[in-house]
Amino acid sequence: MNLFDVYPLYDVTPVSAQGIVVTDDKGQEYLDFYGGHAVISIGHSHPHYVKCLKDQLDKIGFYSNAVQNPLQKELATKLGKLSNCENYNLFLCNSGAEANENALKMASFQTGKSRIIAFKNGFHGRTSAAVAATDNEKINAPLNKQQKVTILPFNDSTAFKSEIEKGDVCSVIIEAIQGVGGLDEPSTKFYQEVAQLCHLNNVVLIADEVQSGFGRSGKFFGFQHHGIEPDIISIAKGMGNGFPVGGILIHDNIKASYGLLGTTFGGNHLACVATMAVLEVLEKENLVENAKMLGEYFKEKALAIPQVKRIKGRGLMLGLEFDFEVAELRKKLIYENHLFTGGAKDKHVLRILPALNIAKEHLDVFFKKLKIALDQ
Ligand SMILES: Cc1ncc(COP(=O)(O)O)c(C=O)c1O
Repeated sequence: MNLFDVYPLYDVTPVSAQGIVVTDDKGQEYLDFYGGHAVISIGHSHPHYVKCLKDQLDKIGFYSNAVQNPLQKELATKLGKLSNCENYNLFLCNSGAEANENALKMASFQTGKSRIIAFKNGFHGRTSAAVAATDNEKINAPLNKQQKVTILPFNDSTAFKSEIEKGDVCSVIIEAIQGVGGLDEPSTKFYQEVAQLCHLNNVVLIADEVQSGFGRSGKFFGFQHHGIEPDIISIAKGMGNGFPVGGILIHDNIKASYGLLGTTFGGNHLACVATMAVLEVLEKENLVENAKMLGEYFKEKALAIPQVKRIKGRGLMLGLEFDFEVAELRKKLIYENHLFTGGAKDKHVLRILPALNIAKEHLDVFFKKLKIALDQ
């Protein structure tokens, strides 16, 4: 059987990884400034993470949500404390798209309405409503296009107000820092207006923190830079450091009832332990603060590179904008300089999403090699 060929692949085959270093099948080492789409939050094969997963696998790896699993409660308590979101309740699933799908569904249940407001260049995943709320025609099949979605630009308060006041909107879904789109952000003023208008119009505000959450932006959640309180927060990616896990944090104001949401795999023992290990390392190694500090260091260093036209993002969710498309530069970085980096929908943006325990020296290497690649 062949693979269904949907990914254009770099010709690199990683076989092991440790911290920020990925090694391929020929023994070549690469520095990972991309974390496999912002997934690696505490570094590859972190010893605490590996131990927790191995120990759990020796006990029990999986049982469904038909029986008690105290690990879920333990995880919810720890997550509530570390993220300062103790007035939310946790529903666990398996990926970012699934998190958003459940968030959008909850919003529709809660309000009895069905139209979604989403934003230009936003990305929310590949499932039914999540992909419909994603601003990319090419990945929306006719089936997905049946959803009622209005896509608006960031920071246009007049357009936003006029749409939300039409009365048929169930939810607004927003990334505090756009990932796939290319690191654009709403202004604090706009994000606060959005939150207030959602409240006034009985609309559920969904903060899509799948990429910006778990400390990546230099605060636990990206929306926390803007002083607002969403109704639902979706999480995945860095949450499991590579173990497939996602979830939504649902505000106390939204009530649960049996059968409203469900999943076979979500919240399984291994997923809970992986996420707990990530939280423990974030806390013990002070990684949210490290993301903030190193983000500032990165920006300082980037200022010295004349080809960089704009530095975008926060913490270790960063983008460098050039006045040329970065595809060739990324090839030079990976094949000749052995650095993994990311691209974006905006083809001029190079995305940098390293593990949050990266060190200054790694960033120094990054800039040294970036300069070489730019002059090659
Ligand atoms: C902001 C955001 N939301 C949702 C998703 C979808 O997550 P997943 O690929 O785990 O379904 C992504 C993935 O890139 C994302 O960046």
